[in-house]
Amino acid sequence: MSGFVSLVGAGPGDPDLLTVRAARALAAADIVFYDALVARGTLDLASRAQRFGVGKRGGRPSMRQETINRLLVRSARRGRRVVRLKGGDPFVLGRGGEEALALAAAGVPFEIVPGVSSAVAAPALSGIPVTHRGLASAFVVVSGHAEDAWGPVLTGLSPGGLTLVVLMGLAARGPIANALLTRGWAPSTPAAILWGAGTWESARWIGSLAELGRADPPPAAKGAPGTIVVGAVVALASVLGGAPSGEAEAERPAAVAAGVAGGTHAR
Ligand SMILES: C[S@@+](CC[C@H](N)C(=O)[O-])C[C@H]1O[C@@H](n2cnc3c(N)ncnc32)[C@H](O)[C@@H]1O
Repeated sequence: MSGFVSLVGAGPGDPDLLTVRAARALAAADIVFYDALVARGTLDLASRAQRFGVGKRGGRPSMRQETINRLLVRSARRGRRVVRLKGGDPFVLGRGGEEALALAAAGVPFEIVPGVSSAVAAPALSGIPVTHRGLASAFVVVSGHAEDAWGPVLTGLSPGGLTLVVLMGLAARGPIANALLTRGWAPSTPAAILWGAGTWESARWIGSLAELGRADPPPAAKGAPGTIVVGAVVALASVLGGAPSGEAEAERPAAVAAGVAGGTHAR
């Protein structure tokens, strides 16, 4: 008897940003193994399923990847319809490829249900297009988790013409900013940190590359996941990012647009 595993992307947080296919897989699931960043409202769509949190959050004890892989294989072999629910897109910096390989090696049938990655959703929800004619013709997504991951990528990036998106990089924002400045990126390059995009913790800071290392989350966003964006496109947030509710930002659209000193917060 063989079940089936759906590796499902949950998007950045808001259940409204799930795909229709993801919602269908959740409704049909017998068992769901979900990540730490998955929203409660999304889990509620799996109304008939048993649900188990197997998520990892930086710096906290977490289940080993091999254990998660084994749980997926074992549940499917018991004939169950399994959803492995992962934040954003399962194949963007989320080890979804390893889970798919483990299922393939075990001969378990599975599907991939792509999700809206926070790499594009977090900027988009703040009015930052990751590409924009005349400003950026490419975007690079990198993990800020360890320097041996982001170091060589940043070394290869010529300043200007592209947008840099860093996931899992809040703790390394200072060293990442320094690496870009050393590589010749202008200190005035617009930069943003977007916390909890698509969730009730949503907040943003917008300033310049020179200030990025000193940018702190507003208290309400402490502990929320954050995405860093660096590049000229960030300046568009002042026009496309909706009415800022943070007074500081409302007062400084010109400074933000020019990427000059004085980072600002808004929720
Ligand atoms: C392990 S990575 C997984 C990325 C995920 N697979 C994706 O495609 O979005 C987790 C990182 O994604 C970013 N992230 C996830 N959810 C976010 C959100 N709601 N707002 C901003 N950044 C988010 C943060 O940088 C966080 O550290």
